[in-house]
Amino acid sequence: MNPRKEYIENHKDRFLSELFTLLKKPSISADSSHYQDVIETAELLKESLKAAGCELVEICETPGYPVVYGEKKISPELPTILVYGHYDVQPVEPMTLWNSPPFEPVIKNTELHPEGAVFARGASDDKGQLFLHIKALEYMLENESLPCNVKFMIEGEEEIGSPNLEWFVKNHKEKLRNDIILISDTGMISNTQPSITTGLRGLCYMEVSLCGPNRDLHSGLYGGAVANPINILTQMIAKLHDQDNRITIPGFYKDVEEYTFKARSEMAKAPFSLEIYKKALDIDMVYGESGYSTAERTAIRPSLDVNGIWGGYTGEGSKTVIPSSAHAKISMRLVPGQDFEEIETLFEKYFVSLAPEGVKATVKRHHGGLPYTTPPDHIGYLAAKRAYQETFEVTPIPQHSGGSIPIVPLFEKELQSKSILMGFGLDSDAIHSPNEHFGLFNFFKGIETIPLFYSHFTELHQQKEALRSQK
Ligand code: BES
Ligand code: MN
Ligand code: MN
Repeated sequence: MNPRKEYIENHKDRFLSELFTLLKKPSISADSSHYQDVIETAELLKESLKAAGCELVEICETPGYPVVYGEKKISPELPTILVYGHYDVQPVEPMTLWNSPPFEPVIKNTELHPEGAVFARGASDDKGQLFLHIKALEYMLENESLPCNVKFMIEGEEEIGSPNLEWFVKNHKEKLRNDIILISDTGMISNTQPSITTGLRGLCYMEVSLCGPNRDLHSGLYGGAVANPINILTQMIAKLHDQDNRITIPGFYKDVEEYTFKARSEMAKAPFSLEIYKKALDIDMVYGESGYSTAERTAIRPSLDVNGIWGGYTGEGSKTVIPSSAHAKISMRLVPGQDFEEIETLFEKYFVSLAPEGVKATVKRHHGGLPYTTPPDHIGYLAAKRAYQETFEVTPIPQHSGGSIPIVPLFEKELQSKSILMGFGLDSDAIHSPNEHFGLFNFFKGIETIPLFYSHFTELHQQKEALRSQK
């Protein structure tokens, strides 16, 4: 047995009980009633980093939730890895669909996880994936095998768009200086086919409102004679896509980077079963932009979705009313070439132009983020690839993901560092959904794989430096 496996085997139960402690904290950043829980989660992580052997550990205040920082420096001659993760989680609603309480972690077996999976909000996104890095560090320090310097930066506002992180990164550039950023906050294809995320979509999140009459009206006395904001809003939303399911906002696609036939054929080699995909979601047909496969629609093509829509009466029974206003939250996923600030402007202009007389449209901008890509010939990618080859005994596949981590492109802009996305989750982990879970196989495999990334990266980095100094 390799020493990593052996260490994991000997400390398995403790690792899980520590993870459970972390998962029991309802650190929902979107819900201010959980303020204290979010703060306590930061404290807990500070203690975990200390216990793992980090030397300088601190809670760094921001205008919002704090960043937990820790470091272990061994030599200025050696490279520095910056590990990023987030300790906040998504809200749990709808509560009734959870088979066990979201903040009372339990282990259950599933078809995809015969060895068991931990069920809890945040199990996969991102507490489980973040915690495996802390345990990997513990292993390296216990076994005197940490090959380079390491820094941890764990934030508490990722799920609300990291509103204070730009400020934090800009003000702590020296502290955060690194040679590579390492993140486990994405997924892989399957437990037998690891993949490394080489692309993330950007995000542009908007909220729209339509105001009609100055008060809710009796739908008998006024029905048919005034613009109903919900009727109108749904018509306007319907106009945001055409028959080919392309987004109709003028200029929306103008900067979208089209992938070459060769690049698309390369991506199409990644294993994907439409049958399994449909079955997992219980749908009889997939749906999306004409001319692209399902994998392409979620990875290299932009999309627009209504996330929520409200107005009027939705309570028990019925109430005959024409609502005075209607609202919707709309997100757009962006791909390389697209800039979220520009898309915000294009969206706003077009949406307002769709509103007929009789209603007033207003648009509010929420958060946004840029898309991101890492080239697969980067030494960070190569180091990750070698690490997976050793622990999974399979060569990982580069894969573009449909999700967004806005801090990643920001790190590149502010710190000139690339991020390597070694996600150990699966799409079926139900992140942001009821019954979120994270496989025990995935958790332990992550702990086993991460130290190998450290050693391969250190070696490749030193080779590169040696070549550079020869020149
Ligand atoms: N970890 C996810 C992003 C993710 C998941 C990327 C799986 C790729 C694969 C992250 O926590 C997240 O949920 N991001 C948000 C954006 C944020 C600004 C709220 C998202 O993608 O919706
Ligand atoms: Mn996440
Ligand atoms: Mn998330």
